[in-house]
Amino acid sequence: MKQAVVKPFPDHFLWGASTSAYQVEGAWNEEGKGPSVIDKASFHDGITDFTVTSDHYHRFQQDIKLFAELGLKTYRFSIAWSRLYPQGDGRLNEQGLAFYDRLIDEICRHGIEPLVTLYHFDLPWALQEKGGWSNLATVTVFERYARTCFERFGDRVKYWLTINEQNIMILKGEIIGTLPPGTPNAQQMLYQQNHHMMLAQAKAMILCHQLLPEAKIGPAPNISCVYAASARPEDVLAANNFSAIRNWLYLDLAVHGRYNAVAWRFMEEKGYLPAVTEQEMAILRAGKPDFIAFNYYASATVGADLPGEAREGEEVQQVEDQQLAGIDRTVYVGTNNPHLGRNQFGWYIDPVGFRITAREIYERYNLPLIVTENGLGAFDTLEAGNKVYDDYRIDYLRQHIEQLQLAIDDGVALFGYCPWSALDLVSTHQGIGKRYGFIYVNRDEHDLKDLARYRKKSFFWYQRVIASNGANL
Ligand code: BG6
Repeated sequence: MKQAVVKPFPDHFLWGASTSAYQVEGAWNEEGKGPSVIDKASFHDGITDFTVTSDHYHRFQQDIKLFAELGLKTYRFSIAWSRLYPQGDGRLNEQGLAFYDRLIDEICRHGIEPLVTLYHFDLPWALQEKGGWSNLATVTVFERYARTCFERFGDRVKYWLTINEQNIMILKGEIIGTLPPGTPNAQQMLYQQNHHMMLAQAKAMILCHQLLPEAKIGPAPNISCVYAASARPEDVLAANNFSAIRNWLYLDLAVHGRYNAVAWRFMEEKGYLPAVTEQEMAILRAGKPDFIAFNYYASATVGADLPGEAREGEEVQQVEDQQLAGIDRTVYVGTNNPHLGRNQFGWYIDPVGFRITAREIYERYNLPLIVTENGLGAFDTLEAGNKVYDDYRIDYLRQHIEQLQLAIDDGVALFGYCPWSALDLVSTHQGIGKRYGFIYVNRDEHDLKDLARYRKKSFFWYQRVIASNGANL
């Protein structure tokens, strides 16, 4: 379908941008914050740790002022659980609460809608030492932490996200820090963790609706449309299986409170089945999201593992590619997609896949959608006069926003778009050199320089996009 006249973005569309606490705040051990799994992780040589990052903790007023100048309608950020509860549970840290009070007040004072992620990869270390998400007790602890957030910040925060990219945590658990490397029966343990996180999420959604009837809450998985490497039925089946396990497992549980048959059978065959009770399934069914948030970077292309058979694309390395994360080759092998270009980090660029993804999610769940991540990681160069000419980022975002508008035109109820990231921050495992922001943060991997903020070319471009409600791309 090709439209001659495309519907405009709806009024009050939430143009935004995103960050997460551990990637942007720094101040990793200040004012009573306890360590998280991220603070205990080890890093590749030459890559910065997360102790200072963009120093947003000390510079948030300057940053929010820039976000207001950019014209953001919403700002998505996460709360660091171990800032509120240094041990994950137990003593509440008033200084941590006071920081988020100041941050949220500042966001609201500038007329920006706060969009808060409760948990973005940074599980308190003290909980990890007690088994982390493998331990059912973490569910209750998360519920308590969520209650604290709702009670303290719910007067100002109307939009909540439960858990960021739970699917990537399960599919790449050992890389992100969900599960210590070398854990025996790692896969089975990860699916048990997944079940516990689902319970935690359902309980948080139920609680949010009880405490804050006006608020809205939803999950935030990473969803990638999955193409079959060819029209060979085995490849289509592999794509179908991969999608059920990578994408829909998480949303089927979040929305309907049920395991889909393909994912369940996969876990059963592999010996990964989690221990599940009927009472827990009832909790999963009772937790209902008001919307679905999703992160999209690229599509994935997969085929069946058929030795000796020629295929259109070569098999690709899966290590650095979040789209192809996890599972194993009895289900699928990742292949190249000769129809797509790639970014400097080897990730495919697929704007049309974005439209397909939005349509697929909406068709399956019929809930309003918001994009909470989408963006281009690149090695930006600071030029004379502190300028960054990131036309490649503008191109990426423009092409994706165009496809989003087509998805809206197709009938998808999409109410916001928050690209990654509002300002430069430290990538999950590829350092500060992999930049995503509209605002340049002046530092290198190991030289903190002055951490000054500079508006990139994409800043002025996105400012015009927002001011024109998407008409001026
Ligand atoms: C998502 C995460 O996986 O992708 C972010 O929610 C992350 O935390 C983003 O930064 C980009 O990935 P990366 O690996 O380039 O930082």
